[in-house]
Amino acid sequence: MNFTSVTDILDVETFVQEAIALKKTPFAFQHLGKNKTLGLVFLNPSLRTRLSTQIAAQNLGMNVVIVNADKDSWALEFQDGAVMDGNTVEHIRDAAPVLGSYCDIIGVRCFPGLLSKAVDDSEHIMRQFIQWTNKPYLSLESATLHPLQSLADTITMAEHRPAHRPRVVLTWAPHIKPIPHAVANSFAEWTNRLEVDFVITHPEGYELNPRFSGNARIEYNQQKALEGADFVYVKNWSSYAEYGKILSQDTSWMLTNKHLENTNNARVMHCLPVRRNVELSDEILDGPYSLVQEQAKNRVFAAQAVLKRMLENL
Ligand code: CP
Repeated sequence: MNFTSVTDILDVETFVQEAIALKKTPFAFQHLGKNKTLGLVFLNPSLRTRLSTQIAAQNLGMNVVIVNADKDSWALEFQDGAVMDGNTVEHIRDAAPVLGSYCDIIGVRCFPGLLSKAVDDSEHIMRQFIQWTNKPYLSLESATLHPLQSLADTITMAEHRPAHRPRVVLTWAPHIKPIPHAVANSFAEWTNRLEVDFVITHPEGYELNPRFSGNARIEYNQQKALEGADFVYVKNWSSYAEYGKILSQDTSWMLTNKHLENTNNARVMHCLPVRRNVELSDEILDGPYSLVQEQAKNRVFAAQAVLKRMLENL
């Protein structure tokens, strides 16, 4: 079993309940991971994904080894037929089988370059790790998706679900740098599987890849989108149409308490790390409606639910 997208999970609602149950008995399945090794490869930085996945694996009795491929191992080459007379030292065709021979499950974080839509959409780095390790693959965030984050977000919303059908709003927020689409794509992909009313709001030109936004309603007026919201997910992403470009830095899109006045006492979510007072105001992050720390905590149980299922399928 690979875990790269919500499409790898057939029973999302049941799976979320399994993850919530794991919170009560995190050490009940230590036998599953005995003598099994999880290899985590980071081509990009991480705080939450690294630690939560490591803790989840340890809770399941696994051994964990971690490679920071951008720092303390060889610079990898992913181009087929490359003449390696430049900065890259080891080809993925040589490195990945080594990892595969050491580990039972391989997790990889590989951000997009944001230079070529075709290259990033092809998920060429993730595909090569899957092909050349020949081991079950756990996405720690790929060029287009961040499914462990979205599972944690889905768990968090399930824990705070109101009695009525919830209204969930994904809102674009300003940022100083071009940011990948993975969290927003993935949140849309998972939320489209839930029994909720789902609205995405952003300035024109920030439409996500329709493959992931699906049937979500797009509303360009942020205030209108936020009316009656139960959950507001705040995230920046760069343009997909004008690939990787920043088209707006309109500070009025930064979420403040004022933006929440016409919501249904909305709970506010963000995957972290967050640029305070650029994407989200201090008053929200430090206030009673923020769910960001609960989301981060649920990363452990999201990873644990996924690893448990992967171990059961080894
Ligand atoms: N949300 C998230 O993936 O955090 P890290 O980048 O710190 O892992």
